[in-house]
Amino acid sequence: MGSTQFMTLGRHIIEEQSKYSGATGELSKLLHDLSLAAKVISLEVNKAGLVDIIGFTGDNNIHGEQVKKLDMLAHDMLIKAMDHGGHLCVMASEEEEDIIQIPQKFNIGKYVLLFDPLDGSSNIDANISIGTIFSIYRRVSPGDGPGTMKDCLQAGIHQVAAGYVVYGSSTMLVYTAGAGVHGFTLDPAFGEFLLSHPNIQTPKKSKIYSINEGNYLYWHPGLKKYIKYLQEEDKATNRPYSSRYIGSMVADIHRNLLYGGIFMYPADSRNPYGKLRLQYECNPMAFIVEQAGGRASNGKMRILEIQPEKLHQRMPIFIGSEEDVKTVEKFMAEVVVPVN
Ligand code: AHG
Ligand code: MN
Ligand code: MN
Repeated sequence: MGSTQFMTLGRHIIEEQSKYSGATGELSKLLHDLSLAAKVISLEVNKAGLVDIIGFTGDNNIHGEQVKKLDMLAHDMLIKAMDHGGHLCVMASEEEEDIIQIPQKFNIGKYVLLFDPLDGSSNIDANISIGTIFSIYRRVSPGDGPGTMKDCLQAGIHQVAAGYVVYGSSTMLVYTAGAGVHGFTLDPAFGEFLLSHPNIQTPKKSKIYSINEGNYLYWHPGLKKYIKYLQEEDKATNRPYSSRYIGSMVADIHRNLLYGGIFMYPADSRNPYGKLRLQYECNPMAFIVEQAGGRASNGKMRILEIQPEKLHQRMPIFIGSEEDVKTVEKFMAEVVVPVN
């Protein structure tokens, strides 16, 4: 191993931030608090099979889906770790309908935190990789009191940092603060995230596509054509592609980020807005993938430029290797959907 061996996440964040004049260290502290929450969630995920933590709570989340205990545990853990640092003015979570206020004494921070506490939760029982996604903005509401809905409804382009934690064969935290993408692996002996993947660059063109093909019948005809195109043989363009789909966005995108690939969760005739949430899932992943040299769009426009209209808005997404995302956009634009 090279000289990256003992670069801890904490040291890396401080060194990165010190390159910016005017940096107060607040973002570093915020990211540090997030990494602490990640370690606790990682521990809980790892012991999930051993204690009576798995299973449905019997409650539905605001999207009408069944929520597992571990989702709520991760949600609570993040709030606990983040609400008294003094760096935030407001938060929002995929698992809570309204914005989450910070207790009065601590709500003076200039940052806004949005998160998906546990992504891919349908995979928990099967010991398959799941993750946490976070997205950080500067407050835009005036004053230094509580943050508002407006703070949480900013276009992704305004993110100052974003990241994810993947609880897989090891736990990894990957983040960007706008100067490249850096990956850290949790050393379970030290309890420290150590730099293992400095400056991740995703391949411009790939050989992997990730999509839930069970929805084929309901897709846009241009998308059907594109997937068939990927399955055809053509040596010059490296086809056929391989199909890889875990069903955990974090894990699917993490693999594609490293190996190259395109991940898609499109709109379809049953779900006209797709499934994934713009603020908790699409924007942070789009920021990371773009920072690694990739591309993210909803099929028509850049994810990061979409102005959110509501907190839990869903958005179709095509994300990953730049050339592959451009190709699917072309297929979708070329085939016009017949109007009934
Ligand atoms: P969450 O567990 O946060 O609700 O997200 C699940 C998401 C995402 O992780 C994954 O890519 C997608 O759901 C899978 O959906 P399908 O089962 O429809 O393929
Ligand atoms: Mn999710
Ligand atoms: Mn979730």
